[in-house]
Order: sequence, then structure tokens, then C-alpha cells
Amino acid sequence: MMGSYIEIKKKKFMQTIHYYLLSGLFALLAISCNNSNAKNKENDNTKKSVNMKFEKVALPYATDALEPVISKQTVELHYGKHHQAYVDNLNKLVVGTKFENADLETVVKESDGAIFNNAGQILNHNIYFTSFKKDGGGEPKGKLADAINEQFGSFEKFKEEFNAAGVSVFGSGWVWLAKDQDGKLSILKESNAGNPVTSGLVPILGFDVWEHSYYLDYQNRRADHLKEIWKIIDWDVVSARY
Ligand SMILES: [Fe+2]
Repeated sequence: MMGSYIEIKKKKFMQTIHYYLLSGLFALLAISCNNSNAKNKENDNTKKSVNMKFEKVALPYATDALEPVISKQTVELHYGKHHQAYVDNLNKLVVGTKFENADLETVVKESDGAIFNNAGQILNHNIYFTSFKKDGGGEPKGKLADAINEQFGSFEKFKEEFNAAGVSVFGSGWVWLAKDQDGKLSILKESNAGNPVTSGLVPILGFDVWEHSYYLDYQNRRADHLKEIWKIIDWDVVSARY
């Protein structure tokens, strides 16, 4: 009798052990599934951040091509870090908004707040960085040259007026040459991320007067930077915008 009682106890003990072992196994399986789901979600997010809609324009020259007017270090930071940050910010900000599938110019024209600031800066810098070339400079060409001479008297007078406007932008911003639908030119001062497209105008040339564009090379001397920058303009590209 005693022997069979011990056998029953033993059996019950083993059943309990099995029960706990199986429960543990299921718990481990559940945790593993959750981790795998989380990993998949993480991968989806990574894919989203890789498949970004807005991109910065490709730099059409080497990062040291604009020296000594703009140093390699400034181009690397300005194009590589500042411009990239605007692109990364906008790609995150538009998710779930009506701008998710809009083109950049539409976003600039129709948005406000953080979306406008980042979209405006992408458009501005795309125009800015494609306005230069190694050993650029000289004078505008074709119809743009004629329009500048007609409206400002001469290229030299236009440059003076443009630089004076750039120097007088208070704080961070841009100075622009823009045209209206009749081809009439104007010089515009814009603060922060402003671009002439928001006034229905076509941007022809824009100088960045945010300190990040010149401080490493010219420190506080914005006027000196604006005098030098004419030496690297790619007038073939800029004149074709007119
Ligand atoms: Fe900039």
C-alpha cells in the first residue's frame, strides 16, 4: 500500500514539473514572437526612413571647388549637415499630412510653421548650391543680361543694390533676384526660409545670408562674403532660369 502511495505522489510530482516546464516553454515562445514582431516593425520604420521622398539636389562640383570664396569645410557642413537636416526634418514632418505626396514647390507655397521652414530651406538651398561652379564668375548672359541692364542701369549697379540688400537682412535670411510673369526683375529680402515663389515670383539667384553660410570663412564680415561670392556664379545655369 505504502509503495503504491509513493508511486502516486511521484507521478503527481512529475505531472506538476511537466506542467511548469510546458508553461515556461509557452511563455518563452510568446516573448520570442513579440520580439520578432517588434523587430519587423523596426525594419518597416527603417525602410520608411530610407525611402524618403524629399531629397537635396546633387552637388554639381567637388566640395573644394569653390575655394577660396567658400571653403571645403563650409561646403561640407552647409551642404552635408545643414541642408541634409532640412531634408530629414521635412521627410518626418509630412508623414500623415496632405503634403506627403506633394511636390516641393507646392509644399513651400501652401504650408506654414515647421513644414514651411524646412521645405523652404530645401528649395532655397537646391537653388543656391546649383548657382555656383569652379572658376565661375563673369557676367549674366542673354536675356537676363539685357533685363538687368535695362532695369538696374548696369550689372555693376545691380550687384551693388543686391549686396546692399543682402547686408541689410536682419538676422538669418536670403536675398533674391526674382522675375514676375512679365519678366520684370526685382530684388527681394526674405527672412529665415523665405522664397519668392510664395509671392508668385520665379527665383533666379539667391544668396544665403544665414551665418552658417559664411561664418567659418568670413566670421562676422557678411559684406565681404557677398562681395566675393560673385566670383563663383555659374551664369549659364542662373541665366537659364530667366
Ligand atoms: Fe544655408
